Amino acid sequence: MPDLDAFIAGLPKAELHIHIEGSLEPELMLALAQRNKMAVRYATVDALRAAYRFGNLQDFLDLYYQGMAVLQTEQDFHDLAMAYFSRAAGQNVRHAEVFFDPQGHTERGVAFKTVIDGLWRASRDAEQKFGITSALILCFLRHLDEASAERTLDEALPWRERFIGVGLDSSEKGHPPSKFQRVFERARGLGLLAVAHAGEEGPPDYVRQALDLLQVRRIDHGIRALEDPDLTARLVRERVPLTVCPLSNLRLRVVPDMASHPLKRMLEAGVIATVNSDDPAYFGGYMNENFQAVQQALALSREEIVTLAGNSFRSAFCDDATKQRHLAALDSYSRQ
Ligand code: ADE
Ligand code: ZN
Repeated sequence: MPDLDAFIAGLPKAELHIHIEGSLEPELMLALAQRNKMAVRYATVDALRAAYRFGNLQDFLDLYYQGMAVLQTEQDFHDLAMAYFSRAAGQNVRHAEVFFDPQGHTERGVAFKTVIDGLWRASRDAEQKFGITSALILCFLRHLDEASAERTLDEALPWRERFIGVGLDSSEKGHPPSKFQRVFERARGLGLLAVAHAGEEGPPDYVRQALDLLQVRRIDHGIRALEDPDLTARLVRERVPLTVCPLSNLRLRVVPDMASHPLKRMLEAGVIATVNSDDPAYFGGYMNENFQAVQQALALSREEIVTLAGNSFRSAFCDDATKQRHLAALDSYSRQ
């Protein structure tokens, strides 16, 4: 078995499932707490990292919402996103579609404008500085009610041109996609592209609901869809991409160990799977570490790695000419 780590590191790729608030590294969290004169529960980087042991998704979310409270100013959101773009570009991520959770900020008194101005400026700056392109996807928190999601969409409308789509995240169990059918319909009517987390901890039926009721273009995670052969066949037939996050699945105990991860089975079944980092500051790795972990545990071949990177460009929300340019670069890299 050749060592594919170096091949993975140089591989051109797109990231389609990254929560910008989940890229908040402990060092930056503590620096922002100091800058904003805020008290923190965990005072050192070591204490923070030691706290990152999760029994399930909710354990993680509790810390994730606490952690993001240090984000107060436009500059904070800019610095957060620039740190992510710098690391991603350093890993040969050429394009990133970035989730953000406005309700995680507006609920604690930070204006939507502060959030979007900082993220947007970072997106522009990162393209200039690192050559990475990006787009923003506004996520609704599913543990809150649909009225709150509707208000968030209203608040976002003055900046409609700064985000390309809407997503659905946070606590999955007990919060089915059906709860957000109307707000997604309105968002799609505004020309926004829909995605949703489904089948991470929730049952295959939530994946079906996301497709039928929310009319999503991609499913985020979706790994529990593999429990249902009919649904798996539908994902293949309808060419619905899954944005899979292997280290996240391991750290949130969605899979017992990496060797049990269904990613290879997805590829064998013909599902359009992609590899992504989800919340890299919390789960122990960015894109390359996710690719490397899953390559080793599942003995993925060089061809499978290239398929995964190709899927990331084919599943991205960019125009066909841009996709073809990225795919040509991937092709020439993989032939070297
Ligand atoms: N928000 C941030 N990361 C998430 C995940 N993995 N699942 C659901 N909501 C999230
Ligand atoms: Zn996610």
